[in-house]
Amino acid sequence: MTATTATPPGTDRPGERTGAPDDPFDHDALPSPPGATAALLRSLLAPMKARVVVTTLLLLLQQAAVQAGPLLVAYAIDSAVPAFRRDDLGPLIAVAAGYLLCAAASGGLQYAFFRTSAQVNQDVLLDLRGRIFRHAQALSVDFHERYTSGRLISRSTTDVESLRELLDEGLQELVTVILSFVYISAMLLWLDLGLGAVAVASLVPLYLLVRSYRRRAARVYTQRSTAIAAVIVKFVETMNGIRPVRAFRRESANDADFRVLNHRHERTNGDALLEMARYVVGSRLVANTAVAGMVLWGAYRVAGGTLALGVLAAAVLYLRRLYDPIDRLGMFLNSYQSAAASLEKIAGLLAQTPSVPEPATPRELPALAGEHPGREVVFDGVRFAYRTGGEVLPRFDLTLPAGQTVAVVGSTGAGKSTLAMLLARFYDPSEGRVLLDGVDLRDLAAPELRRGVVMVTQEAFLFSGTVAENIAIGRPEASREEIERAAKAIGAHDFIAALPDGYDTDVRKRGGRISAGQRQLVAFARALLADPAVLILDEATSSLDIPGERAVQRAMATVLRGRTAVVIAHRLSTVEIADRVLVMEHGRIVEDGAPAGLVAGTGRFADLHRAWRDSLA
Ligand SMILES: Nc1ncnc2c1ncn2[C@@H]1O[C@H](COP(=O)(O)OP(=O)(O)OP(=O)(O)O)[C@@H](O)[C@H]1O
Ligand SMILES: [Mg+2]
Repeated sequence: MTATTATPPGTDRPGERTGAPDDPFDHDALPSPPGATAALLRSLLAPMKARVVVTTLLLLLQQAAVQAGPLLVAYAIDSAVPAFRRDDLGPLIAVAAGYLLCAAASGGLQYAFFRTSAQVNQDVLLDLRGRIFRHAQALSVDFHERYTSGRLISRSTTDVESLRELLDEGLQELVTVILSFVYISAMLLWLDLGLGAVAVASLVPLYLLVRSYRRRAARVYTQRSTAIAAVIVKFVETMNGIRPVRAFRRESANDADFRVLNHRHERTNGDALLEMARYVVGSRLVANTAVAGMVLWGAYRVAGGTLALGVLAAAVLYLRRLYDPIDRLGMFLNSYQSAAASLEKIAGLLAQTPSVPEPATPRELPALAGEHPGREVVFDGVRFAYRTGGEVLPRFDLTLPAGQTVAVVGSTGAGKSTLAMLLARFYDPSEGRVLLDGVDLRDLAAPELRRGVVMVTQEAFLFSGTVAENIAIGRPEASREEIERAAKAIGAHDFIAALPDGYDTDVRKRGGRISAGQRQLVAFARALLADPAVLILDEATSSLDIPGERAVQRAMATVLRGRTAVVIAHRLSTVEIADRVLVMEHGRIVEDGAPAGLVAGTGRFADLHRAWRDSLA
């Protein structure tokens, strides 16, 4: 959203590009660097070079076979018929046989062409969809905060689909049109220079028409693809948030919003059709005028004896064939515009680089010292601001010794989750470093980081699959026994065993029956199984009831032993298992000490604790 305010470099016709500030529909385009679209298309086609050449050759031969027709007609009228009058049947039979041969060859070649080109197209689309998925998944959290899943869906469905249309229908049309133009012009000029010149001259107004259509259609198509994306975004967002929608009776407001977006899409569709209609009518006018002119002039010359009748017949047939593909050229331009707009959006997405990149030369963590599974964490002069908004952490220094359990408390918006996400490397600090046993998180490869730090959050997202599979995400190679042991350790086993299929219950099918607290327990088991050196719990027990939380705490006391743990919680009961408490306000640590000492003191935590005690009484 913020990225759209800048005009991409090299934009001289703002209306023709997505990401242009004057595009009223455009809230989602990413600036794609100049040439990125063409580069993407090239890189998609590069591995198919040989097959592209073969398909072009097939079309070349097929067109030659097709365009021989009128020439055979001219020969029939001017030579074969007179020979037949002299009782010589040979030339007529030759013409008929030649005609059939050409038809058969053209059919066979067309079939071969369809087969090879369909294969190329499928491979290109397969590659592109894969690239979009891989790339989007690799992009950092901050990207996904700006670019919603609705937009990503629109990129990998409608936008890929419009490229499919271009490849399946459009490109073949274009090559056919160009080839037939070349063949037919050559034939016409060869048959009769004068008539050929008329035909070639009529291509000038057609060219101008095509050019103006292209320019106007570009704008309309960009608007259309943005409009359909907006429809999808609204759809996905509403259905994802169906519970709050119901809770706040947002249905009619959403209906109204959706109606506006839907109408906008319909209007852009209408605009596109109108442009197409103008083009078709214009091109037919030019074509028919030229045919009429040629018939008039040709008949005059036939009457005067300077032109053979067969040649005129062939010339008129050719001329009609010359204009025939003009409508199809419009189709091509249609799918081309639509695909270009889509491809540019895809290129813009693919040009995004992760703001949290993988290291070029990863470093390894030192071997764990002794039996302790924990590691030391250091925030070294860290400053951090989200892309939007002011500084959340102003110069932050903190050392957590290996094996320490630290509770972080503080008011809403103090920066606790931000601290956690920096430690889990969802973001990189704007300045300074976060170190794990002395190694900058930025230098750790993904698998090393996964073994190093695991975060459990409030959302406790479950993927489709069984409960066991969801726990096993923590360590895919874990056995069923290990999975159950992890579940037992945090007190999730009983509820899982009570599900219809136990550990093999599909969470999507029974999603409604798994409560928020139960989901948190599954997420906990997943984290325990992962067995990380540093475990971060951000409000991870907030949905549990008091006994449930107690059970998890008891389990945690054993599980966390020796591990470094950061526990963020509003309920102060959680703090009791901590060795150390940090009180955060406005991105700074205002108190730091052992829980007992802080409670006994007169500071912020003592106040919080007193208030909490009172609320329990
Ligand atoms: N993705 C984001 N983009 C921009 N600003 C953000 C983002 N996430 C958080 N903030 C801002 O950063 C500040 C700290 O937020 P943070 O989530 O770290 O607070 P918190 O201490 O975890 O609060 P809570 O107790 O409510 O969970 C807040 O002012 C918040 O508005
Ligand atoms: Mg938070």
